[in-house]
Parts: sequence; C-alpha cells; structure tokens
Amino acid sequence: QEVVEPSALTRHLEAFQDAADANGGNRADATGGYEASAAYVEEQLRAAGYEPRRQEFSYGRRNPVEAFSILADTGSSSDGVLVLGAHLDSVEEGPGINDNGSGVAAVLEVALRLAEEGSVPRERIRFAFWGGEEGGMHGSDYYVEQLSRKETAAHVAYLNVDMVGSPNAAFFVFDGDGSDGMEAGPEGSGAIERVFRDILQAEGVQALPVGFIEDSDYDAFVKAGIPSGGLFTGDAGTKSEAEARTFGGQAGEQYDECYHQACDTIDNVDMAVLEQMTETLMGATVSLGGTENDLAK
Ligand code: PHE
Ligand code: ZN
Ligand code: ZN
Ligand code: ZN
Repeated sequence: QEVVEPSALTRHLEAFQDAADANGGNRADATGGYEASAAYVEEQLRAAGYEPRRQEFSYGRRNPVEAFSILADTGSSSDGVLVLGAHLDSVEEGPGINDNGSGVAAVLEVALRLAEEGSVPRERIRFAFWGGEEGGMHGSDYYVEQLSRKETAAHVAYLNVDMVGSPNAAFFVFDGDGSDGMEAGPEGSGAIERVFRDILQAEGVQALPVGFIEDSDYDAFVKAGIPSGGLFTGDAGTKSEAEARTFGGQAGEQYDECYHQACDTIDNVDMAVLEQMTETLMGATVSLGGTENDLAK
C-alpha cells in the first residue's frame, strides 16, 4: 500500500483555512482567498520539481469573472495523459475546506509523493486544480474545450476528486460501466470504476455507485468521450440506514451538514476519511498511469 503522510494533508488544509481566514472567510474565484490558495499549491508543486502553469479563462456576460486553473505535469514514457482533477475554488458562503480543500489536498499529495518516488510514469500525469467549478464548472470546461482532437484522444482517463473528507461519509465511486442502474460513462470508464472498487475492497470498503449527474468537473470530460471516474464521500444528501450500517456514522443526517456553508472549516473534515481517499487515489494513479518502476517489476 502506498504511504500517505497524514500530517501533510493537515498542512494543506491549514493553508486553505488560513487563505480563507485572511480574505473574508472564503476562497471563491477572483478573490484573495483563491489567489492565496493558488500560491500555496504552486509553491508546493515547485518545491517538488514541477513547473505549474496557470490556464486563464473568463465566464459570465455582464461582469465577466477572470479566473484560472493550475496545471502541472509529470514526464512520461508514452503519449497518454492521465488527468487528476480537483476544484480549487470555494463558494462565497464559506472557506470550502471539505468542498474542496479535501480534493485539492488529495491530488496535491499524490503529486508530491510521485515526485518523491522519482520514476517516470508510463502516462503523463497531469494534476489539475480547477477554477470556476462553483459557478458552473468553467475551468474544466475550458480545459476540455481548448484541447485539439489529437490531444483529447491522448487522454486515457480523468479522475475527479470533489469532496473526499465528509464528516458523515459514505464511500462513492462513479458508476463507469452503468451496471449499477445509472447511465454509463464513456467507454473505458468501467475499468476505472473497477480499479477504484478493487483498491477499496482490499481495504474492506464496499463502495457505492454514484452517477455522472453533471454536478462536478468530470462533466466536460464525460461529454468529450474521455474515460472518467473518481471518488466522492457525499454532500448535502442524507445518509440512509443501509449506508450507516455499511460505513458507520449517522443515518438520517447529511453526509456534510456544512456543505456550502461558513462552517465548512478544517474542523468539518474527517481526516481519516481524507487519508484513505488519498491512498485510494494514489493506488488508482499508479494502476492507471504506471511507473517505470512498476513496469520493471
Ligand atoms: N459539485 C458539487 C459541488 O462542488 C459536489 C459534488 C461532487 C456533487 C461530486 C456530486 C459529485 O458543490
Ligand atoms: Zn461546491
Ligand atoms: Zn465541489
Ligand atoms: Zn458500475
């Protein structure tokens, strides 16, 4: 099992909490809180040897919001691209530490651990920290829109990480193959679902399926036919009796009662859940992206 350092995840969340605290309590697009969050992510990536870049875009007609996402790549030994994405923006109502400081911390930590490992993966792994999600998934939409056909075809998978430390968590994996009664993702998405399920199963977690319901940054990738998947531990939905039996926690209560509110602070995140989701993401990244070390084995 890959090793994830829990204290590093805490450090990332503290940086996002500080970014909100110093900037009026949120980290929404085009605010000081977003800029401070971005600066932290960029500094961490640079220190690990990556060369992060900002991809600028704007949205909204009357008063366009000037926003940006951050992208950083590993090297690769093939032409494929595997994107790991988490939105970096929060809503204006709160600091957005579970939604989505948690997903950013997970993706960032996988980037840092892979850099430490030092081997060149088979696929180019692109770490994406999206702006504009809360206003309508504009950053990921722009990213997919500006790809050439050839670049789109080179994308082997998109893994979405939005809300992975919910305080009353259930463990959801996107239903790539549609076998769970939801609409299937693009061809290849079933294999991604299985990779996540197998890793969680080995840890004794029987993940539940969640549909691609146009509710997060996977949407543009799914519509472009790029195989997609990801992890999610629940938002404002209510935990069922069956889910509480499977995962523990409180039936009849929300997965995250601070969803999109001022109380989505660092205290709202279940760190053990975030650690397990980060390890699962790490395992899936190595499984789908490969490293030369793995290939040599
Ligand atoms: N898109 C929602 C938000 O950012 C949360 C969500 C994530 C919903 C993943 C469904 C699946 O607020
Ligand atoms: Zn949100
Ligand atoms: Zn979100
Ligand atoms: Zn399925």
